[in-house]
Amino acid sequence: MKIVMLGAPGAGKGTQAKMIAAKYQVPHISSGDIFRTNIKNGTELGKKAKEYMDQGLLVPDELTVDLVIDRVSWEDCKNGYILDGFPRTIPQAEALDAALNKDGTADSGLDFAINVDVPDENIVRRMSGRRACLKCGATYHIIYNPSKKGDICEACGDTLVLRDDDKPETVQKRLAVYHEQTQPLIDYYDGQNILKTVDGTQDMNDVFAAIIRILEA
Ligand code: AP5
Ligand code: MG
Repeated sequence: MKIVMLGAPGAGKGTQAKMIAAKYQVPHISSGDIFRTNIKNGTELGKKAKEYMDQGLLVPDELTVDLVIDRVSWEDCKNGYILDGFPRTIPQAEALDAALNKDGTADSGLDFAINVDVPDENIVRRMSGRRACLKCGATYHIIYNPSKKGDICEACGDTLVLRDDDKPETVQKRLAVYHEQTQPLIDYYDGQNILKTVDGTQDMNDVFAAIIRILEA
């Protein structure tokens, strides 16, 4: 099962990707989480990526494409994976297709591109309440999905934080970048007949149920 999650920042891609990955026992690969781990560990890649992320801009394709394409070649991906936050530009999607088509077959092998649809008005409210664990990548919301341990991650015990790029003005920039550079992927995957759209404004368990119906139809 090879799935690409599409959707605006804060639409719930990560939330749903983790639930799908747990149910089907395939890796959840989030380019944003990979960058945040690098930032936390102070790597050169992390330093470079942070400059863009803090401004709400995309990290350049040169720093992103090889990193994710290498990750999907790992042994744990042989039965599939959930890509969350990648691809995010048409050139990234084309590079992924090319990498998956190495054997020359026409089929990229992606099964679904799931678009979690949430209008911009809902997004800023969600982001200001999000709390993230930078150690294990878990995500909470102070109202919709609070940690049972307050500001401590239930999964790994690290302290939860408001992401640097979740300030309202940065969220507005991320939304603008999304509409300009990432939204075109909806038509791209529709053209491959693998696009499925779910209403992301529902309760997160209802969004998950809608995704399961698609995957198991
Ligand atoms: P990334 O980490 O991918 O961020 P994003 O796409 O902006 O998406 P988010 O993680 O903010 O939102 P999400 O859709 O995962 O929502 P979540 O499930 O957390 O990327 C960050 C940055 O890294 C980018 O801006 C860019 O700079 C860089 N980057 C990453 N990948 C790149 C690439 N391929 N190319 C170039 N640059 C790249 O949910 C949000 C909140 O809402 C949570 O608090 C959650 O609990 C809550 N919530 C979720 N679902 C619901 C629901 N149904 N109802 C109520 N609340 C909900
Ligand atoms: Mg995310």
